[in-house]
Amino acid sequence: MTAVADAAPTPAPSPADSDLVRAARGLPVRRTPVWFMRQAGRSLPEYRALRAGTRMLEACQDPDLVTEITLQPVRRHGVDAAILFSDIVLPLVVAGVDIDIKPGVGPVIAAPVRSVADVDALPPLEPDRLAFLATAVRRLVTELGATPLIGFAGAPFTLATYLIEGGPSKEHARTKAFMYAEPAAWGRLLDRLAVSAATFLTTQVDAGASAVQLFDSWAGVLSAADYAERVLPHSRAVFDGLGGHGQGDRDVPRIHFGVGTGELLTLIGDAGADVVGVDWRVPLDEAARRVGPQRSLQGNLDPAVLLADRATVDREVRRVVAQGRAARGHVFNLGHGVLPDTDPGVLTSVVDLVHELTAT
Ligand code: CP3
Repeated sequence: MTAVADAAPTPAPSPADSDLVRAARGLPVRRTPVWFMRQAGRSLPEYRALRAGTRMLEACQDPDLVTEITLQPVRRHGVDAAILFSDIVLPLVVAGVDIDIKPGVGPVIAAPVRSVADVDALPPLEPDRLAFLATAVRRLVTELGATPLIGFAGAPFTLATYLIEGGPSKEHARTKAFMYAEPAAWGRLLDRLAVSAATFLTTQVDAGASAVQLFDSWAGVLSAADYAERVLPHSRAVFDGLGGHGQGDRDVPRIHFGVGTGELLTLIGDAGADVVGVDWRVPLDEAARRVGPQRSLQGNLDPAVLLADRATVDREVRRVVAQGRAARGHVFNLGHGVLPDTDPGVLTSVVDLVHELTAT
């Protein structure tokens, strides 16, 4: 064999042929792709240095900062995808809703949506206000070369929880009460949020993002019946906003994720996902059974495992990789975002181990 043949697997010539996109479509891969939700963020000292003195929502609208922060984890960890540095509330902020992201808390809404009139007063998102986003994505795609960029948006339900609760919440009781008490206004609210999420996603895809993830982080608080009837149609509308599969330039893989969604996995797939994101509660072989052979899986190492000893990390990574083999395709990820206290060196070693275990 020649030296070239002995070298690492041939890198993908283009993002569209990357292992991330191939696994998402259920095609054979060179090795299992791996990236981490919240890979750009406080676990990285270079992120903390760059963010010092700039508010989160300002940073998200500065193409230079977005580009640099998005690239940091790709350079450091050698992950198989970048995810745009932004936030799920950004489309609302750009539309003019008064929101702040408080460090250690999350998004806080100055005037929460509490009445039917509040729903109808929400400002629409004008696509031409997203020029900064298109600029950042185009720059990133150039810098990333063969590494795919994942664009993302918040799903209508999860955004509605922030708007109605006024900030982060555990039970989402006000949200559910509004959903039951005002079904027509609820439908209009989620319709509007679906339109702005679709606008946010199409801007990213048109500027060159190679895949998209719709975060419905808090959908797991709903019963399957309520999710199916009152939420799923609106999430499907976001994906439909990208156009049908096989239609044109926006035909990129769609990842759909929520926390605590074990009872919803089939429905989350039905909303229009190529890849269903799974948290750590359901093992991937069981998740594969639930979503069926038409969809790939993403997940699902418990982020807390990364705070444990190396032997535990090693054992759990091997288990996730082995159980992921039951899926049509597997994108290795955590079951939720990287915790701020995570040692970045551990993240890099997880990338290396997943690649080593799955190289063909
Ligand atoms: O690396 C990435 O994953 C890309 C960047 C990203 C951020 N937010 C950056 C961020 C993504 C994909 C999000 C999505 C997001 N934002 C979600 C869905 C994902 C999930 O975690 O379920 C949600 C629910 C939000 C709302 C939100 N924004 C929360 C709960 C927080 C954390 C608050 C805190 O300080 O603990 C934010 C702020 C936020 N978004 C940070 C980052 C890097 C921290 C801000 C900081 O550095 O001070």
